[in-house]
Amino acid sequence: MKRVLSGVQPTGDVTIGNYLGAIKRFVDFQETTESFFTIVNLHAWTVPQDPAVLREKTINLAALYLAVGLDPNKSTIFVQSDVPEHSELAWLLQCMAYFGELGRMTQFKDKSDGKQNVTVGLYTYPVLMAADILLYQADQVPVGDDQKQHLELTRDLAERFNNRFGEIFKIPEPLIAEFGARIMGLDDPTKKMSKSAPSPFNRITLADTPDEIKSKIMKAITDTENEIRYDPETKPGISNLLTIHSLFSGESIEQLVERFQGQGYGTLKKDLVEVVVNHLQPIQERHRELLASGEVLNVLKHGAERARAVAATTLQAAKEKMGLVL
Ligand code: TYM
Repeated sequence: MKRVLSGVQPTGDVTIGNYLGAIKRFVDFQETTESFFTIVNLHAWTVPQDPAVLREKTINLAALYLAVGLDPNKSTIFVQSDVPEHSELAWLLQCMAYFGELGRMTQFKDKSDGKQNVTVGLYTYPVLMAADILLYQADQVPVGDDQKQHLELTRDLAERFNNRFGEIFKIPEPLIAEFGARIMGLDDPTKKMSKSAPSPFNRITLADTPDEIKSKIMKAITDTENEIRYDPETKPGISNLLTIHSLFSGESIEQLVERFQGQGYGTLKKDLVEVVVNHLQPIQERHRELLASGEVLNVLKHGAERARAVAATTLQAAKEKMGLVL
């Protein structure tokens, strides 16, 4: 059986970009693969955090994993910092990674651009991500488009290690959806939707109320043509709304374009509000119930035990090869 691993940072509020590009897809993988889904709280510390908020967001994200349908009997759900092997392998891999290749990471360049006191953690972030993946011998890693370069680095590091020390790590494949791997910002459809964009009108979060969803979608930037057509190059706003609709409703883009032909953008937007609200409401209800139940910490404890068993075996093998076991 193939192994799948993916992770999400417990920072900001999870957006429908995170959901459609990654989390929603996790649910399908757990049926057919041996799946590991982690909450990468060590990655969160590459930028300043409030400890109490980080703790709350970590539990919140775990509850969200469960609320969208991840089943702890089918998937291993765990918090990154509960498995210390991640940090240890990250160190070993840092000693294989080159300064130059990390400097070429576009996410590092974007996040550090113009900032003072950029941490070393932000720089070595992708190496920790490689450790997350390689520890579990993952065959496949479902992620959004923005993680592609980090996956390439992961593969390079695994190959470099294997060439030097023998076959220790499986070379993982990124699984980037053909459609929906890059949901764009509602306030600027030329840039990706992001948890950390300054304006809340950039994104719909999984915690948004129906009124918030409505006002964000109705204000979404489109164009002046008023013709519903899918063309991400020339009509990024409307194409993004069609993409979001299609991924939530299951209707194809062609069906949507036909159904809304001759109607204004307002009609499409109103329909999209209904589709998103109806999809998110049961998730939000279940999320509230899970948080109230106190079940989440238990799931994470068992998840960490299962994850550690796998991670420890890989780490031990890597350490033996490197002369670190006496
Ligand atoms: P993070 O927390 O920024 O995002 C979580 C997932 O959401 C995807 N995503 C998007 N997909 C479509 N449209 C968007 N606008 C959009 N924005 C975000 C991301 O690609 C990601 O799949 N480095 C990772 C976390 C990580 C990880 C890992 C992932 C750490 N270790 C190991 C996979 C395997 C990150 O910061 O994701």
